[in-house]
Amino acid sequence: MDKIEIDGGIRLNGEVNISGAKNAALPVMAASILCPGDHRVTNLPGLRDIYTMGKLLGHLGINFQFDGDEATFNSDNITSIEAPYDFVKTMRASILVLGPLLARTGEAKVSLPGGCAIGARPVNFHTMGLAKMGAEITLEEGYIHARAKKLKGARIYFDMPSVTGTENLMMAAVLAEGTTILENAACEPEIIDLADALVTMGADISGAGTNNITINGVRELRPLNHQVIPDRIETGTFMIAAGITGGDITINRCIPAHSEALIRKTVETGMEISVERGRIRVKGAGTIMPVDIKTMPHPGFPTDMQAQFMTLMTLSNGTSLITENIFENRFMHVAELKRMGADIRIEGSTATVSGIKKLTGAPVMATDLRASASLILAGLAAEGTTVIERVYHLDRGYEKIEAKLQKMGARIRRIV
Ligand code: EPZ
Repeated sequence: MDKIEIDGGIRLNGEVNISGAKNAALPVMAASILCPGDHRVTNLPGLRDIYTMGKLLGHLGINFQFDGDEATFNSDNITSIEAPYDFVKTMRASILVLGPLLARTGEAKVSLPGGCAIGARPVNFHTMGLAKMGAEITLEEGYIHARAKKLKGARIYFDMPSVTGTENLMMAAVLAEGTTILENAACEPEIIDLADALVTMGADISGAGTNNITINGVRELRPLNHQVIPDRIETGTFMIAAGITGGDITINRCIPAHSEALIRKTVETGMEISVERGRIRVKGAGTIMPVDIKTMPHPGFPTDMQAQFMTLMTLSNGTSLITENIFENRFMHVAELKRMGADIRIEGSTATVSGIKKLTGAPVMATDLRASASLILAGLAAEGTTVIERVYHLDRGYEKIEAKLQKMGARIRRIV
């Protein structure tokens, strides 16, 4: 299993180009199921989850070709309606084929994604919404089995905004009979990107990016041709990398407006942020001020940046409170940060972080995607060498992160 070794204490300087957003690419790729033809998606990040989604679509009969950051998919023939456990267990986002498969073929069998490191992560909003649209849903030996001759438009309320729940139901609704209204829907930029892709296919969607999305079903769609938005979480991770090393970096090919909450909070820590079209320049400050955060659905502070922000706070000159409101178990990076000397106490969903002078390099273990990013950030700032194990977690969400960091001066290498 690959490890990553970092000699800390180097100030990062230079530029970095942001890759396409994993969490926008995955639903857009799934949208290729909705209609026959040759689909094209560009600005795809070279990540394991993207290739897993490609293989899953291949299993359904969709011929795909990757060529650099571009992919073409021919979905003339859907030869299977089943997303097997082998795919779903490695990538929960496989659930995103449920809605499109049901809309296209009238049937779908998708393995229930188990829980994961950060929480139980049920999919009841997905199945509840499809049932409201007239689907017959049964649970059979760990599989969701959904059938519907023709989905009907419905008014669906989310108890709490669900990103993939909103995406799944939006895709199911585009070919349904009548109008579907998603209330208390998620507002993440990835939702808007998917809606944009579906509209270029001929879908009739309004309100994406707000809590109320209206989808008027259409009779048919045309193939996809879409460029995926840049990754706002990769953008945020590099912002913290500049702040925690006291560096000065320019982040290119990003959309600053997608990172508003993070920009506001990092400015409060004392970092100097200048925003221009498509790029953010970040300068770390000598002193890191303590700042409290609470993770919330977009446009609130993103849960996917909580671990990275906490790492910055371990070196602040005070105490900060970090409250995780989205997932029930997203503090697994805390134990590893404490191995590096961090002073963090957890009480329920709040971590109290008391800043220390320096982190010390140590062997640590990645437990999930964003926790692994937080350990990279800690290693960049720590005195001495940090070795991070189980970096396959990292490879799910960060394309060529060592190369991007090395280019800015980091002493980081992968040990195969
Ligand atoms: C998406 O996961 C992202 N994944 C996650 O990113 C991200 O952390 C999360 O949204 C929140 O922003 C992708 O887009 C592929 P949710 P998702 O449904 O859709 C509860 C990363 O690091 N819930 O918005 O699975 C759920 O338990 C990953 O890139 C239900 O109760 O998250 C959670 O508490 C990690 N029932 C809350 O809602 C449901 O049916 C939000 O979850 C669905 C969700």
